[in-house]
Amino acid sequence: MSEKDTRTLYNAQAENWQRTKPILLSDYSARPFVLDMCEPIKDARVFDLGCGEGYVSRQLINRGAASVVAMDISEKMIDAAKSIETEGISYSVGDARSMAEYDSESFDLVLAMFLFNYLNVEESAQTIKEIFRILKPGGRFVMAVPHPSLPFLRKKEFPFYFEPNGNYFSGRNTLFPGQIWRLDRVPVNVQCVHKTWEDYFACFNAAGFSKIPTVKELRINETHIEQDPEFFTPLDGIPLHVAFKLIK
Ligand SMILES: C[S@@+](CC[C@H](N)C(=O)[O-])C[C@H]1O[C@@H](n2cnc3c(N)ncnc32)[C@H](O)[C@@H]1O
Repeated sequence: MSEKDTRTLYNAQAENWQRTKPILLSDYSARPFVLDMCEPIKDARVFDLGCGEGYVSRQLINRGAASVVAMDISEKMIDAAKSIETEGISYSVGDARSMAEYDSESFDLVLAMFLFNYLNVEESAQTIKEIFRILKPGGRFVMAVPHPSLPFLRKKEFPFYFEPNGNYFSGRNTLFPGQIWRLDRVPVNVQCVHKTWEDYFACFNAAGFSKIPTVKELRINETHIEQDPEFFTPLDGIPLHVAFKLIK
């Protein structure tokens, strides 16, 4: 996806993303579980890549990170982030596809929460190579993306979908538009450059990650359904997101 399109998409809806409490579906179905996968966070030097308006950066600090470098391509998302809380967080507008300015072996943890759905296969491979470079030996890379099967399991319906452009294989590396809803029923536009499982593992391997990753297929659970049955029940039993944890 081109830089202009992604920036335009997020500049236009920074307000809907800005939040200090969970509100988006993925604040329930993904972020708490992915943050748990990032532990231990205490005293870590962290890079939050594609940080948006800082919802996750702030939680990394609350979980004890020593510092968070947080970068996003959308200046409106960064403006929104800076208007909330910046202690311990260094925000900048930048492109995850060019990280040459960051020193090698300088981070304990790199987190990319729903960034790679905006990058194509080639850009993902290049970016993951750079992440490997900036991680300290033994450092961790955690990333979450929409589950590769999700677009083919859901209709264009509330509260979360991606509209496939082709089938699982022919749709590879093409853009699937989608929407994810907030619990207050406000829809937010999202996009996914569709990638297969094979693509993700090929990127990890080419970057130099040689240990078996931890993989979590994230879903909603009983607690979610009890909280808001109308919202969560349509997603019962569907793999929504996948998170990977890799060790350098
Ligand atoms: C789905 S939002 C997630 C934001 C944040 N990580 C969170 O979990 O709340 C995706 C973010 O990735 C950013 N993004 C997309 N492509 C990017 C790129 N090439 N470089 C940096 N940020 C990018 C978007 O601007 C957007 O803020």
